[in-house]
Amino acid sequence: KPRVFSGIQPSGGLTLGNYLGALKRFAQKQDEGIETIYCLVDLHAITVWQDPEALRRQTREAAAAFIASGVDPARSILFNQSQVSAHAELAWALNCVARLGWMNRMTQFKDKAGKNAEKASLGLYAYPALMAADILVYHATMVPVGEDQKQHVELTRDIAAKFNHDFKVDFFPAPEPLIEGTATRVMSLRDGTKKMSKSDPSDASRINLTDDADTIAKKIRKATTDPAELPGEIEGLKDRPEARNLVNIYAALADMTPAQVLGEYGGKGFGTFKPALADLAVEKLSPISTEMARLMADPTEIDQILGQGADKADAIARPILAQTYDIMGMVRSR
Ligand code: TYM
Repeated sequence: KPRVFSGIQPSGGLTLGNYLGALKRFAQKQDEGIETIYCLVDLHAITVWQDPEALRRQTREAAAAFIASGVDPARSILFNQSQVSAHAELAWALNCVARLGWMNRMTQFKDKAGKNAEKASLGLYAYPALMAADILVYHATMVPVGEDQKQHVELTRDIAAKFNHDFKVDFFPAPEPLIEGTATRVMSLRDGTKKMSKSDPSDASRINLTDDADTIAKKIRKATTDPAELPGEIEGLKDRPEARNLVNIYAALADMTPAQVLGEYGGKGFGTFKPALADLAVEKLSPISTEMARLMADPTEIDQILGQGADKADAIARPILAQTYDIMGMVRSR
């Protein structure tokens, strides 16, 4: 039976990259009628230092972003990871299945740990095994993510296969990464070769879901571009990462293909295209920031949604964790 699981770290404000690469598609999967489970992965966030008050606020704000983007708590399970202890428990078991050599190949760890990996937390290193636990503890079959998470989902498949092999069972299904659409890797507005990220020191590099209309328009107007006009065909974007990024963003926001966007704007300059993109971005994003602000005005409703979501998630995860322990030989006597 198909089951979707995905997660987002509440480690900062969410960006247009998170919206187009994840949130918007999360709502689409739910609307297709598939069982959908979405998680604010606070246990992942603490792999790097988080100010406790900021983490609490960002977790609620990220929940508000899910709801404002169309994730309906009546049809999807929405919760924060730390309220369902099976994630951390299965992660320990999977730490004992995953191999050091596999973890050493994880490019996100290398990027995040930087040059001085000795100073990185042990949690940051083990992070991909916790992510595998997130997915496998629900026997999820589909994982919608952006491009940057592909390696982690593939590792999850390897961990599932090794567990099944080591214990001679057919227990954990291999989850499929779903990396679809034109916005699987939204790039920085300042540098078309870098991913748009909530942790980029430059706020001008990204659009935050909480930015107001003027800020969104200004950031798009100031986005780095080359001086040439937009080409009529996709091939013309090949060596123009900034132009390609803006065309992809337009396409994703408008539910068009990049070719359709170029059909409309090919031959026109950025003096025409950027204001059109800014208008479109404001039209699509301002209802989301308005709804987020409404929800954040009184977090009681959000906390209630997260609590109810955690109860539903726990009801699925708990028995799968118990079966995992049985398979591994843990005595259960109560
Ligand atoms: P995170 O919090 O970095 O990002 C959340 C989701 O947003 C996508 N994304 C992007 N997509 C397109 N363009 C971008 N510039 C961009 N930036 C981020 C990410 O690919 C992701 O889908 N490890 C995960 C969270 C996680 C998870 C999981 C995901 C924990 N457990 C289990 C799936 C299943 C992460 O750090 O995502």
